[in-house]
Amino acid sequence: MEMLPTPHSDCMTQKGILLAGGSGTRLDPLTRVVCKQLLPVYDKPMIYYPLSTLMLGGLRDIMIVSTPQDLPPLQALLGDGAPLGIRLTYAEQAHPSGIAQAFLIAEEFLAGQGATLILGDNLFYGPLDTFRHALRLERGASIFGCHVADPGRFGVVEFDAAGRVVNLVEKPSHPSSSCAVPGLYVYDGTVVERVKRQQPSARGEFEITDLNRSYLRDGQLELRLLGRGFGWMDAGTPESLLEAGNFIATIERRQNLKVACLEEVALNRGFITPAQFEKLIATARNPDYRRYLEIVLASTSPVPPTASP
Ligand code: DAU
Repeated sequence: MEMLPTPHSDCMTQKGILLAGGSGTRLDPLTRVVCKQLLPVYDKPMIYYPLSTLMLGGLRDIMIVSTPQDLPPLQALLGDGAPLGIRLTYAEQAHPSGIAQAFLIAEEFLAGQGATLILGDNLFYGPLDTFRHALRLERGASIFGCHVADPGRFGVVEFDAAGRVVNLVEKPSHPSSSCAVPGLYVYDGTVVERVKRQQPSARGEFEITDLNRSYLRDGQLELRLLGRGFGWMDAGTPESLLEAGNFIATIERRQNLKVACLEEVALNRGFITPAQFEKLIATARNPDYRRYLEIVLASTSPVPPTASP
């Protein structure tokens, strides 16, 4: 596929990995025959949200990693990405042996380059400047920090009195801060070698927190805080799935604009031309969705859209 040049080619990290495997146990029986990342978050499959985050960061070469049984439906939904001006490739994770294992699976795809990893059940809403700055990374790793009410469910940052990061702990029973690490990570080209040197944890997984700690030990980990105006959700439990759906519905109804509309993102980022976008409109089967795309196309002029779909 021939791609348009990336208009914002300031990102050093050009490759993205979207991890969409796991067993979805906490969502059973919802996930008995449908994988978690295909469950609806309001009006779109969950995977649209993390995929749109990578695209909004300017990443166009993306590997989707999932289980052997879930790859075919994911591939049926997203294809090779060409209509969106991106390149999607797919790889199997035969056993869920940890988030960091994604880098071992993607070794050939990365070919020594760095990568951004996003988890398929993580939703980000807000200005993405912090993420885009992180993508300029040449050396080391960038992770993000978010204030949460329940840090014990996540990787948590430990700070010293001067506010420096001194440790990262996975799901601590007594979290020392309320700063959780969301499922979005930017790494340099040493990432694969680092995971290869990593020992699986007591539960037999290549832990993402151990990978981040290896960068911290080398003084090469940068933590970027996502401010209070930023929304980060994971949708891995019935409650958080419902909350994420309600959040997206509220924003979309209020603004009359869609969150994570992949066609719109592709057009706005310059991945596809208006003529290519028109072809996508023709394939939209839902009349409301099609009407929305038509308004998007009409509003590529500087005047904000006013029509209701
Ligand atoms: O949501 C952010 C959190 O994600 C981080 O704060 C934690 O540090 C990180 O460990 C992770 O915690 P989770 O409890 O959410 O991890 P979980 O095992 O549920 O995996 C997250 C997603 O990655 C999930 O959608 C399934 C997928 N996954 C997970 C593993 C372990 C895979 O595709 N393959 C795997 O081997």
